[in-house]
Amino acid sequence: MRKNIVAGNWKMNTTVAEGVALAKEVNEALAGFKANCDVIVCAPFTHLASIASVIDQNKLGLGAENCADHKSGAYTGEVSAAMVASTGATYVILGHSERRQYYGETAETLREKVALALANGLTPIFCIGEVLEERENGTYNDVVKGQIVDGLFNLSAEDFGKIILAYEPVWAIGTGKTATADQAEDMHAHIRAVIAEKYGKEVADNTSILYGGSCKPSNAAELFAKPDVDGGLIGGASLKCADFMGIVKAF
Ligand code: 13P
Repeated sequence: MRKNIVAGNWKMNTTVAEGVALAKEVNEALAGFKANCDVIVCAPFTHLASIASVIDQNKLGLGAENCADHKSGAYTGEVSAAMVASTGATYVILGHSERRQYYGETAETLREKVALALANGLTPIFCIGEVLEERENGTYNDVVKGQIVDGLFNLSAEDFGKIILAYEPVWAIGTGKTATADQAEDMHAHIRAVIAEKYGKEVADNTSILYGGSCKPSNAAELFAKPDVDGGLIGGASLKCADFMGIVKAF
């Protein structure tokens, strides 16, 4: 059956020292009790090896926020999936809306990234979600379906089964404006139906679909109570241990 997951996305925040301290704090907070979900932090590339050396990955998973769309070679400044894996990280966020918007990521580059992540044993946390205009003009279900079809439906059922999805409506990211639990549930159920149409009900039922966008301790429980919401991808609230743990404890 699918897992419940709370994953932090630190984005471009914290120095190495600050990130290591935060990861340690979360790791220690988790040591004391049994969380009812998997807990992951996704940190900048520069932090990964240091964090890997101070956390217990049986308690706290570690991921990158991106990886390159090429295997290796003359791509100055890029970080490959193999490099990410060599730090000890085992997850990678791919297709975050900020990367699609500011760095021109397309379905084509994302297919490459997903393939390379899987080839290196990383679990992709693949992000999808509509912008405000698409929410308002009613095309959001088609937009999100298109992102899944174009980015992931080249995969075999076996490989698709390794993907974690994160629905992040762009209008809810960093805005304080969370999707309502009903809006999230409607979309998550739609996403599961889209997966079922392609890969069958069993694969769809086994796929973890996280919600992201202004998720915080005060709204997490209501979102996570929905049958198709399997957890959260947390931005701002993952930067403070108490807030992040408050969300973990919503399960
Ligand atoms: P916020 O939680 O800051 O809205 O960010 C969500 C997000 O983009 C996680 O990937």
